[in-house]
Amino acid sequence: MAGKGLFIVLEGIDGSGKDTHLKFLAKELRELGYTVVETAEPSRDRVGTFLKRYAKMNEERLPAESEALLYASDRFDHVKNVITPALLRDQIVISVRYYYSSMAYQGAVGVDLDWIREMNRFALRPDLAVLLDILPEYSLHRLKRRRSIYEDSDYLRKVRDIYIRLVNEGELVKVDADRPKRVVQGELLSMIQDLVERRNAKPGP
Ligand SMILES: Nc1ncnc2c1ncn2[C@@H]1O[C@H](COP(=O)(O)OP(=O)(O)OP(=O)(O)O)[C@@H](O)[C@H]1O
Ligand SMILES: [Mg+2]
Repeated sequence: MAGKGLFIVLEGIDGSGKDTHLKFLAKELRELGYTVVETAEPSRDRVGTFLKRYAKMNEERLPAESEALLYASDRFDHVKNVITPALLRDQIVISVRYYYSSMAYQGAVGVDLDWIREMNRFALRPDLAVLLDILPEYSLHRLKRRRSIYEDSDYLRKVRDIYIRLVNEGELVKVDADRPKRVVQGELLSMIQDLVERRNAKPGP
């Protein structure tokens, strides 16, 4: 991404701590003087609102291909209306979930990963995409009650396998999320500070 904006993504299975760490990072970075936009997928736009409602229903899932297309559609709105405008204002955007979630959650039901990658080609690449890695048996334990149709250990094991594949392919950076919050947060913050320093060191256009 050209300019001074920074685009960071937090990924991970349900209960891995994405929202907890998003709030922490936003607060710390604001205290350091940065303007931070906290965002998430599904977005607050129309398709995103449908998807949030859908994920809470305990009904039969849509065909996984339809899910992938809907999430990509919502992502298009998210990129156009939230992420790109903030980056153009040189702000730091932190998104909970992005196209890696589509690959992991729909890939885990057998959707072709290259097809998902292809349909998300419009989505700009983040400067840093982190996998908060944890096993489902630990992460589900943290959640007090079931909140989505995706919270099933066997399913989340497959989701995690794809996330790990994306780590091995260099698309995600793994952070062990089964450690105490403060340790995880220290590691995340120092990764982002390195990124900010490198960006500031770059000669201007
Ligand atoms: N490193 C940690 N150690 C212990 N508990 C943690 C840690 N990180 C997060 N938690 C706790 O785990 C629970 C789930 O975290 P959180 O809601 O942030 O996860 P999430 O990834 O946003 O989940 P979901 O995808 O279901 O929204 C919270 O109660 C949070 O306080
Ligand atoms: Mg959450």
